[in-house]
Amino acid sequence: MKQKDAPSIRRIVLTGASRGLGRVMADGFAAAGHQVIGCARSKRAVAEVEKALGPPHHFSAVDVSDDAAVARWAKAVLAEFGPPDLLVNNAAVINANAVLWEVPAQDFAEVMRVNVEGTVHVVRHFLPAMIKAGRGVIVNFSSGWGRSTSPEVAPYCASKYAIEGLTAALSQELPKPLAAVALNPGIIDTDMLRSCFGSSAGNFPSPQKWAKKAVPFLLSLDAKSNGKSLDVPT
Ligand SMILES: NC(=O)c1ccc[n+]([C@@H]2O[C@H](COP(=O)([O-])OP(=O)(O)OC[C@H]3O[C@@H](n4cnc5c(N)ncnc54)[C@H](OP(=O)(O)O)[C@@H]3O)[C@@H](O)[C@H]2O)c1
Repeated sequence: MKQKDAPSIRRIVLTGASRGLGRVMADGFAAAGHQVIGCARSKRAVAEVEKALGPPHHFSAVDVSDDAAVARWAKAVLAEFGPPDLLVNNAAVINANAVLWEVPAQDFAEVMRVNVEGTVHVVRHFLPAMIKAGRGVIVNFSSGWGRSTSPEVAPYCASKYAIEGLTAALSQELPKPLAAVALNPGIIDTDMLRSCFGSSAGNFPSPQKWAKKAVPFLLSLDAKSNGKSLDVPT
């Protein structure tokens, strides 16, 4: 397939856009002049980010673990705006700290449903249009805990190791010049980090500080990045 340059104004589909890293990425992409199409589950939080950023950006209440809901969202987005140039699978949850044998079955299933299946649902419903357009980069958010482990977060580690594996396999399936990468954002003081680190999460950088390097780094990814496991530069 012939290489098509990414347009200077990118259309960016971003999951988990309401809080934490997703919210600062939405702000940063919008400030850089790109169009952000985002989602999260909370209707109230989605309405707030929609109000803050306004058109041409667009935010919807979608649970990425619901394949039918993602299908409806993708159909509407693709019809109204067209395929994304950058697809960022950022939405994720973490289990409440617990040794693996004390994690309730439904909590383990929820982590896998959102972090792994949710990512795949989004790929399933947006990627065919990106392939048809002949361009685009998919970034699946991994973690340090997708490459090494700690106690009490085994479900989350399992989900992020899965992200590394499925992203590498996907990268071998993509037609050129599309790309898929797994990205470890680093350690940032968000609601998710507070869940596992408690108040010591405050020792880590704010999402706003993180975004200053992360947003340009995400925008720099291209066909040469395909198949890589990357870290946001510190
Ligand atoms: N913070 C860190 O230090 C760190 C380290 C390594 C990796 N990461 C990864 O970075 C990404 C962002 O993490 P974060 O720290 O910003 O997390 P966060 O503060 O908990 O924010 C998560 C975002 O995802 C949304 N979300 C959760 N479940 C969803 C679902 N089923 N459907 C749609 N949206 C959903 C949340 O909104 P709703 O609740 O309204 O849906 C929220 O907007 C995640 O992939 C995480 O695993 C973070």
